[in-house]
Amino acid sequence: AIERTFSIIKPDAVSKNIIGDIESRFEKAGLNIVAARMLHMSQQQAEGFYAEHSERPFFPDLVAFMTSGPVIVQVLEGENAIARNRELMGATNPKEAEAGTIRADYAETIDANAVHGSDSPESAEREIAYFFDDSEICPRTI
Ligand code: CMP
Repeated sequence: AIERTFSIIKPDAVSKNIIGDIESRFEKAGLNIVAARMLHMSQQQAEGFYAEHSERPFFPDLVAFMTSGPVIVQVLEGENAIARNRELMGATNPKEAEAGTIRADYAETIDANAVHGSDSPESAEREIAYFFDDSEICPRTI
């Protein structure tokens, strides 16, 4: 089915000037970028986005990293977009990421791991709505 998923190009990847390479991987895989914006997240924005992890020991480091520099937040649309994006990203821990994935190629640590992608339809819906109004999503017309 055609799905939407939420994606973040994290501060480490923006800093490395690999926004274009990451977007190119999504486009070549048939995922359409239907919304995108650059922002430098506030602590409150990052804490709210990652609220489900608020009790985990890595939460303070995660929030510090995600507010350390600008990110791209975006919505990808396509066939099985949630799973396809996760295949392109590779495992959360770069040491476990399969060769050829974004994280295998670029991630340095489990926090500086280049990209985020929704893990389920429910999180995709919540995460998209956290950063985008419906009016900001631009499905293809041609
Ligand atoms: P992300 O997909 O953005 O979702 C939560 C993030 O927490 C994850 O990617 C990692 O960058 C970070 N993180 C740090 N430590 C861990 C951990 N032990 N397990 C899962 N995620 C972690």
